[in-house]
Amino acid sequence: MQSRKATAISCSNIAFIKYWGNRDAARRIPLNDSLSMNLRRATTTTTVEFDEQLTEDEVHIGDAPVREAARARVVAHLDRIRALARSATKARVDSQNTFPSSAGIASSASGFAALTIAATTAAGLKLSERELTMLARQASGSACRSIPTGFVEWVTSIDTTNSYAVSIAPPEHWDLHDVIAIVSTEEKQVGSTEGHSAALTSPFLQERLIALPIRLHRARRAILARDLALLGPAIEEDAIELHFIAMTSRPPIYYWAPAMVRVIQAVQRWRAEGLAVYFTLDAGPNVHLICEGKDAEQVASLSRQVADVQTVIDNAPGGAATTIHN
Ligand code: PMV
Repeated sequence: MQSRKATAISCSNIAFIKYWGNRDAARRIPLNDSLSMNLRRATTTTTVEFDEQLTEDEVHIGDAPVREAARARVVAHLDRIRALARSATKARVDSQNTFPSSAGIASSASGFAALTIAATTAAGLKLSERELTMLARQASGSACRSIPTGFVEWVTSIDTTNSYAVSIAPPEHWDLHDVIAIVSTEEKQVGSTEGHSAALTSPFLQERLIALPIRLHRARRAILARDLALLGPAIEEDAIELHFIAMTSRPPIYYWAPAMVRVIQAVQRWRAEGLAVYFTLDAGPNVHLICEGKDAEQVASLSRQVADVQTVIDNAPGGAATTIHN
């Protein structure tokens, strides 16, 4: 491989129906299908340069020194891409987020989606969007949903190869917003990889898996019909269930924080007062407030008034992961 360089940008995504638990952890084949929206203002930009002069991969993420575990995950993904390109050339990777890492905004989703696009382009590989989603999935499950545009479904598979993500609607289909109320930027104690395997120990996981297909169908129908009153209850149920499975895992995992409960209670109050807003959560204490674009400013300004909300980031639906220059 000659020295080749590419830069890609990818949105993070917020899951409306969550991925929590694997059927095959090594290949990241999920237990269930999931559904998400790309987040326009939560992006990662990554440059990958393969360079014959390098004796090992150089990985920079943001301005802080990279932890060994994070570096190892990036190197493992570069190895997958080198295997496809039949190359041993090491790479220089530089990755920057527009939002705080960890604590409930999926930086691994945008990070590994951008790395997949930048590294495959730099390696000269020509892969279809579906192949790119399957490749990104192996680095971080939710990353596969950040490759296609807008509203995206990730389908599981009973065999071990065919689990991929596909767009069900472009960003302009529905001006749905995710107003993220950030109550903590601390790194979470238990990462999602550990959470996925812990989920298998919850006595309530089977109940969740039985309920999911109908809930996912409802959420997909709501997105296609732009029906927030149908989508809202489904996403709130699913968010609470994700945390319930985490808390009933053995040993239990608690992502909750007092400020998060305050925001959830405020959402219920605002809704009773006539504001159409619903919440969802990721594996962290930040609360994602889902509303239509016309209400986003009001939701943002109300959430700023809740005690311990540090920052608010208003996101419209985002596009597909893409190269920005070669
Ligand atoms: O892709 P991972 O392994 O970081 O897992 C993501 C898990 C959740 O963000 C909690 C849910 C989801 O579907 O994005």
